[in-house]
Amino acid sequence: MAAKQIESDVLIIGGGAAGLTLALKLADTLHIRLISKGILREGSTLYAQGGIAAVNAPDDSLNSHIEDTLNAGAGLCDPEVVRFTVEHAAENIQWLIDQGIAFTRNTSNSAQGEYHLTREGGHSHRRVFHATDATGKAVETTLEQRVLAHPNIQVDEQHIAVDLITTHKLGQPGDNRCLGAYILDRGSNQVDVYRARFVVFATGGASKVYLYTSNPDTATGDGIAMAWRAGCRIANMEFNQFHPTCLYHPDAKSFLITEALRGEGAKLRLPDGSRFMDNYDERAELAPRDIVARAIDHEMKRLGCDNVFLDISHKPADFIRRHFPTIYQRCLDFGIDITREPIPVVPAAHYTCGGIMTNLHGQTDIDNLYAIGETAFTGLHGANRMASNSLLECLVFAQAASRHILEQQNQPAITAKIPDWDESRVTDSDEEIVVHHNWDEVRRMMWDYVGIVRSNKRLQRSQRRVDMLKLEIDEYYGNFRVTNDLLELRNLVVVADLIIRSAISRKESRGLHYNLDYAQTDPLLQKNTVLTPENYAK
Ligand code: FAD
Ligand code: SIN
Repeated sequence: MAAKQIESDVLIIGGGAAGLTLALKLADTLHIRLISKGILREGSTLYAQGGIAAVNAPDDSLNSHIEDTLNAGAGLCDPEVVRFTVEHAAENIQWLIDQGIAFTRNTSNSAQGEYHLTREGGHSHRRVFHATDATGKAVETTLEQRVLAHPNIQVDEQHIAVDLITTHKLGQPGDNRCLGAYILDRGSNQVDVYRARFVVFATGGASKVYLYTSNPDTATGDGIAMAWRAGCRIANMEFNQFHPTCLYHPDAKSFLITEALRGEGAKLRLPDGSRFMDNYDERAELAPRDIVARAIDHEMKRLGCDNVFLDISHKPADFIRRHFPTIYQRCLDFGIDITREPIPVVPAAHYTCGGIMTNLHGQTDIDNLYAIGETAFTGLHGANRMASNSLLECLVFAQAASRHILEQQNQPAITAKIPDWDESRVTDSDEEIVVHHNWDEVRRMMWDYVGIVRSNKRLQRSQRRVDMLKLEIDEYYGNFRVTNDLLELRNLVVVADLIIRSAISRKESRGLHYNLDYAQTDPLLQKNTVLTPENYAK
């Protein structure tokens, strides 16, 4: 079958909170093509538990939300971006309510207002809107329905973006402009050309680069790797967030135990039942995530134990079941009754604070290419993201990008001839084992050498290994037809490389990046790590 050339006004790659929101905000004016590499709803958004931060309580203030975000970010947040995001939070929560999302309400007509707000690490006030403990599911499924019903949005599921098409890649002079992307249709195994006046990465994070993660399989950093290959700057990749509490059970894959449990009074305990967080931070269980995850990691290594415990069993059973129905049921499925016993937990890779550098409109370094959501680096999170600021960022930057795209919509259509995908020099793979082996190797190496606690020696080791893996994977990519697994692996190894290089270049410990050989924060190094094609080559 001949490859297709598919045209739209806007190509959105990714169907999580960021991509769906953007699609809905543009679709009354522009024709949208939205692709997702699996089924539409699969992505981190679907699994978000705690909620979305926005000031609403009478005793809270925008300045307080700003200050908490800046504190969690350990000196690297961009104050202008933090203010912009926090100031746009309330209208975006209202937009979600207008779309039909049923946030949990207060049961009585209390002075606390209409909606129940929960509290999470780093927040000095209750300010997290939530839909019990399954906020992401409510957001994703509600927006998904709206998108599927919109006549101007065409959704292609099971389609994975391979690479961007830009004027520079086509050898054209002048500013680099994005023209579209090559997309693999996983059903027909054919790579088609998707031409669009505007292309948006909403591809989510990269935490699958670690062996243990709270993230679904989609989180392989594809957008970051594609943007990097196309020449965009990538910032702060050393700041990968580890969530302190994922369920520890041999049959439980990637199940998060929300921080909101600690917000409602759950305590962390060692195997002997004693508490330990007071020894690390005066905020104890409600300290920011980097501090809690490191404390757990330290205690597990000190005692040689496989996990610690999170205990909310002192709260009334009906309170627990009402506030945390998903967690209650999931743990019960594994034989753990959280109303009566503590939950075994471990930290796991959770969130990519770094990403594709953008401005306040979501614009990247390439004309007509935008990045929004977890794949982007806006400057909001600094060296450590505060809980529930991520979904907020997805919404606020989808809104900002939509406004900018609408302002630019009269730009001329693309006239350049875009060549079809060239498969003349590749064959079907006869060595799939290389892909499977290298998937495991990258992720284990990152967990062992570039995890919660790093050292110069471990980072140097990881750099040598990733250099070798990159060569091997590039050679494989050059010889064989693309598949979903191969494309993800090719992206994962790029992301691993960017994380390692960024971690090596930061000669201090700050926020989520902790290096035993530079255990202190150095005020002189209070700046972002920005990788560019030029400084990478040196
Ligand atoms: P995602 O929701 O991850 O969507 C990415 C999309 O991109 C998917 O549709 C995927 O198919 C598509 N995609 C990726 N690569 C390609 C490609 N190459 N081609 C085509 N499509 C592609 N944050 C909060 O603020 N509050 C919370 O309570 C919260 N809880 C969380 C709980 C869990 C378990 C997890 C994992 C994360 C949580 N987070 C939370 C973080 C937050 O959920 C994510 O940062 C956010 O949902 C990311 O949304 P997104 O739209 O950027 O990406
Ligand atoms: C959680 O519910 O603990 C996750 C919240 C987040 O990642 O923001």
